[in-house]
Amino acid sequence: MGALVKILTLSCLLALTLPTLAEVGWWKTAQFYQIYPRSFKDSDDDGVGDINGITQQLAYLKEIGITATWLSPIFTSPMADFGYDVANLTDIDPIFGTMEDFERLLARAKELDIKIILDFVPNHTSDECDWFIRSAAGEEEYKDFYVWHTGKVVNGIRQPPTNWIGVFRGSMWTWHEGRQAYYLHQFHAKQPDLNYRNPKVVEAMKDVLRFWLRKGAFGFRIDAVPHVYEVPADADGNWPDEPRNENSNDPEDYGYLQHIYTTDQPETIELVYAFREVIEEIDQELGGDDRILLTEAYSPLNILMQYYGNGTHLGSQIPFNFNLLANIGFDSDAYHYSELIHNWLDNMPEGQVANWVFGNHDQSRIGSRLGADRIDACNMIVLTLPGVSITYQGEEMGMTDVFISWEDTVDPQACQTNEEEFESHTRDPVRTPFQWSDEKNAGFSDAQSTWLPVGLDYKLVNVKRERGIALSHLNIYKQLRALRDEPTLKQGDVTVTAIGPNVLAFKRSLAGQKSYITVININDDVESINLDSVFTSISSQLQYVVVNDKSVRRKNDLTFANSVLLMPKEAVVLSTV
Ligand code: GLC
Ligand code: MG
Repeated sequence: MGALVKILTLSCLLALTLPTLAEVGWWKTAQFYQIYPRSFKDSDDDGVGDINGITQQLAYLKEIGITATWLSPIFTSPMADFGYDVANLTDIDPIFGTMEDFERLLARAKELDIKIILDFVPNHTSDECDWFIRSAAGEEEYKDFYVWHTGKVVNGIRQPPTNWIGVFRGSMWTWHEGRQAYYLHQFHAKQPDLNYRNPKVVEAMKDVLRFWLRKGAFGFRIDAVPHVYEVPADADGNWPDEPRNENSNDPEDYGYLQHIYTTDQPETIELVYAFREVIEEIDQELGGDDRILLTEAYSPLNILMQYYGNGTHLGSQIPFNFNLLANIGFDSDAYHYSELIHNWLDNMPEGQVANWVFGNHDQSRIGSRLGADRIDACNMIVLTLPGVSITYQGEEMGMTDVFISWEDTVDPQACQTNEEEFESHTRDPVRTPFQWSDEKNAGFSDAQSTWLPVGLDYKLVNVKRERGIALSHLNIYKQLRALRDEPTLKQGDVTVTAIGPNVLAFKRSLAGQKSYITVININDDVESINLDSVFTSISSQLQYVVVNDKSVRRKNDLTFANSVLLMPKEAVVLSTV
């Protein structure tokens, strides 16, 4: 073939042994799928997706083998942050439908054996939430539901109590005329932070969990957990300023400060344990399959591992593993991939389950971030490593970021910047309508216009078309998913390694069963690798089980283990014979 055959050096080979999953709870090997309801399917043609749309299309989740789906918020909201600003925590927003619609969704999900997980936003509510209105009015019961401070007066001028800067730019404090005080908001001014140092808040929020669990939700994705607590105030009720981050020169930008007093406070972990107790309580009360928590935290690994629980408390079953999502870049080599995968597996407390995530509604899509020719590779990593797989809607067919002009931009994180900078802050490009078909608005809606524009590539990248293409991203996803039914993939050990800078490989094995080896050529050199010298006890011949469209080999072809040829960006799963 005239190919450049490389002499490969083997490094970083570490065997990992996972505890055998004696009792496999449903979620431990489950496929999770995130639905962003505004953009999944619009049933009433107002240009915004809704609950009935999800119900209509739930069979699609079954088609791609999903076990459970978490829905971004569907609760009553003025939509300042598209639902992450909740005004009524126990009701459905009319844009998404009614409580009856939600109940119908639950019933349909039950029929299809798909579990519905809701988004729970503990850090803040909307400023239009009844609790906030009462708090601002100083009503006794609610006055300490939020974080209030009269500020400090410097040279006769009133100023916010601290220098803290919010995630969406600018001061974390907004002056409230009615209450004559500042309130804290780690995100948008329309998202006031709840005060978790008030036990009534903790109880009220636990009741919200109970409400939805009793309705039939199987758990929650918990939003923005590291932001829930701020450092305790001193004896005078004041907080310290946060130190500068020398890397940033923009005093309005979140990155300008080191958030040592406003994120990852130890009480946060305790709160997750308290929420888990509610889960256990409702498991007792209602019986049936386990209910679960997935927690969103972009925190250091040692903190994330505490989310799982400690010796005495249970925590979140699934602390999102954003290791790959946050650290893998376009130029990352195979050593980096391997190291990040090891980081999680090697540090996980005994008996816990790993999870793998490459995308969500806040992050640039895989194909745009890492290249469209790495989409199958990422899906392969997520679906063939041990534990839980998590897929953001559209990643299974390879949707990519859609350019949205400044005029069309609606994400508050971008709108609070300016025309020059918004592109590096906007999350709109990953939230565009789901591409079902080549029909009007990609089959998402019959409306004249949709809340965000539909991707220009929808005639090529859509579910309907990809169903008919043997090696489309969608069909490869489905094959990988089917493979997860194999005992080896469900319960097997894993050995992860980089074979030189370009090839990531991992082997799944289980006594008495076939072994499976995922091999990914991350870059554009043709590679020839000797898997025999990398992995122990594999057969001299291996069989192709899943190939991508870069492969010259086909499914069921055989290869010698000591000379596996990989085309640029080829990603395959092989099995022993
Ligand atoms: C989380 C959500 C994000 C939202 C923020 C504030 O990070 O994923 O979309 O803007 O919390 O609720
Ligand atoms: Mg609609």
